Order: sequence, then C-alpha cells, then structure tokens
Amino acid sequence: MAKLIYSAIASLDGYIEDEDGNFDWAVPDEEVHAFVNDLLRPLGIYLYGRRMYEMMVVWETDPTLAERSPLMRDFAETWQAADKVVYSRTLEAVSTARTRMERDFDPEAVRQMKASAGGDISVSGPDLAAHAFRAGLVDECHLFVAPILVGGGKRSLPDDVRVRLELLDERRFGGGMVYLHYRTKT
Ligand SMILES: NC(=O)c1ccc[n+]([C@@H]2O[C@H](COP(=O)([O-])OP(=O)(O)OC[C@H]3O[C@@H](n4cnc5c(N)ncnc54)[C@H](OP(=O)(O)O)[C@@H]3O)[C@@H](O)[C@H]2O)c1
Repeated sequence: MAKLIYSAIASLDGYIEDEDGNFDWAVPDEEVHAFVNDLLRPLGIYLYGRRMYEMMVVWETDPTLAERSPLMRDFAETWQAADKVVYSRTLEAVSTARTRMERDFDPEAVRQMKASAGGDISVSGPDLAAHAFRAGLVDECHLFVAPILVGGGKRSLPDDVRVRLELLDERRFGGGMVYLHYRTKT
C-alpha cells in the first residue's frame, strides 16, 4: 500500500505564505534543495490543488530553470517524471505531460490510488491537503520549518483536524531550517 505524504515549507508560526501571498522566505537553499530532491525522487504521483499546480508547472514549461544549476535540473527531471493529478473546478486544461484533472476530491478514489500505486503519493497545497487530512488519508508529513515568524497568512495545516503524530526523523540545516518527519497515528 502506497503512503500519502503531505509536504510543506512553513514559517515557525505555521504559514506557507504570508498575508501578502509571499513565500520568498521559504525558498530552500542548496542544502535543503538537495534534501528535498532526494525526498521527491521515489514518489510516483503528486496530488495538487490548482494553486500549487499553477506554481509548479514552470518546472516543465520553463526550460531555463533546469539550466540554472544541477540541483534545479535534478528537481525538474524528477518533477516531469512523476504522474500528477490536479484538483480544480475552474481550470480548463492542464499544461504539463503525465497530468490529469479531477473536479472533486473523492476520498475513495484516493484510497484506490494508494492501493494500486507503485510508489508513494504526495499531496499539496494545504487547501487540498485539508480534505485528505479530514478523510484520514494522510500517512506521513514532511514539514520544513523556516526560521521566521510572518504573523499571518495561509496556514500550512488545517485547524479543524486532530491527529496524533509519531516523530520518525528530524534534521537541522545550516541556513536555520528544520525538517520534521511525522507518521500519523490511527
Ligand atoms: N511555502 C512554500 O514553500 C510554498 C511553495 C509553493 C507555493 N506556496 C503557496 O501555496 C499556495 C497554494 O496553497 P493553497 O492551499 O492556497 O492552494 P491549493 O491547495 O494548492 O489549491 C487550492 C485550489 O485547489 C482546488 N481544490 C481544493 N479542494 C478541492 C476539491 N475538494 N475539489 C476540487 N478542487 C479543489 C481549488 O481550485 P479551483 O479554485 O480551481 O476550483 C482550490 O482553489 C500558493 O498559491 C503559494 O502562494 C508556498
């Protein structure tokens, strides 16, 4: 059975974007980027909310990104190799390969995806992931805490969900970010 993994880079006070919609403070440095690349590599499917998908398409549509560094090339190649499912009621068409769209988040369909997928599945951003948390579908969280308080914005985790967690791993990075790897307890 594949695991469903929620991943996010958030401020210490728990926001993935600040009140102005900025998240430049969450951009990974080279050390974090290399670590993220290794986390993503084994994943088979990415489930995206429409907003997160629109942020990520550049990894396929803008070839200049991959030319900037070996790390960015590695990320672009990993991203392009994975299957993607985009959840949206407004998007008319997807603009990347290996990508399909769903108009609704159907927990049973995701359960079936977990049962049949060859590799683990990620879910992001937080608006979409909240549905997965509420349905009890999230098995693990990869949370990166950035060394900043932003005071408000979009929360990285839903506020109407209670889940006990088991810490599986942690790591500190030179730039001040911390990685926390949790498993959800049933
Ligand atoms: N901290 C970081 O490192 C980082 C990195 C990248 C991006 N970000 C930020 O994160 C934001 C994205 O997160 P988000 O939580 O705002 O959005 P999201 O979860 O990526 O996308 C929300 C959209 O997904 C669709 N959706 C959600 N639930 C659905 C459902 N049950 N059925 C069908 N469609 C559904 C809807 O699209 P429609 O409106 O089309 O129906 C909804 O507006 C970005 O905009 C960016 O600012 C942060």
